[in-house]
Amino acid sequence: MAEGLYTKRFDGRTFEECRPMTAKVGVVPSADGSASFETGDTKAIAVVRGPRTLHPQHMQNPRTGILRVSYGMMPFSVWDRIRPGPSRRSEEIGKVSEWALSSVVDLSGFPNTVVDVFIQIPKADAGTRVAGLNAAAMALAHAGLPMKEMLSAIAAGKADKTLLVDVDKAEEDFHDGEGATDIPLAITSRSKEIALLQLDGKISPEELTTSIEMAKKACDDILKVQMEALKNAGVQNG
Ligand code: CDP
Repeated sequence: MAEGLYTKRFDGRTFEECRPMTAKVGVVPSADGSASFETGDTKAIAVVRGPRTLHPQHMQNPRTGILRVSYGMMPFSVWDRIRPGPSRRSEEIGKVSEWALSSVVDLSGFPNTVVDVFIQIPKADAGTRVAGLNAAAMALAHAGLPMKEMLSAIAAGKADKTLLVDVDKAEEDFHDGEGATDIPLAITSRSKEIALLQLDGKISPEELTTSIEMAKKACDDILKVQMEALKNAGVQNG
């Protein structure tokens, strides 16, 4: 790896190391499925409702159920108050999360229905979309919906010339040298396919290949945390 200005992480982690992670399943008793996923000072809660008949009727698909994902940061999730309600950013994150989760959940047995996934962020220190995906994949399994595979997600990235995983906010804001690059990735559990890849910043093709490998290793660790949480809640599916 090229020698850069960011030679030691602010919080002492190695560059391949995730922040301390916690996962819980069944955090919202009234929901059909629910889970939380926490990494450092970032926390996501996901709640699943459905399948239920989709209205209006013209939106129904007679061949399959539809997944609908919404994402929101809670007003006090960061020091600057977040305005409640939809924003361009929350719409984008909801959409990309929907695409990523659609590749692992199989709703073909539930025609004309919708499954709603609500992702809420009570604490944000970067990596909220990937924490949301980790929580949502567990919540869908907890709801008893057929999963082709599980899904684990991480933000890989670069601070100046240094590649790293589980980028926190201080690292995302790294302005020295080449600055920072943020690459949220979601990886499927068995086939190890990329279900989401976004890229904000600059990176060479070789560095991107290395970042994906680093993200896949981190996702193996995240998957263990997710599976343990599902097992603790007595969920076989996943
Ligand atoms: O959270 P994620 O990394 O998926 O998305 P982002 O748009 O790159 O946001 C990075 C971080 O910026 C968030 O996790 C929050 O810590 C912070 N943020 C904020 O303080 N205020 C906002 N309106 C949006 C994000």
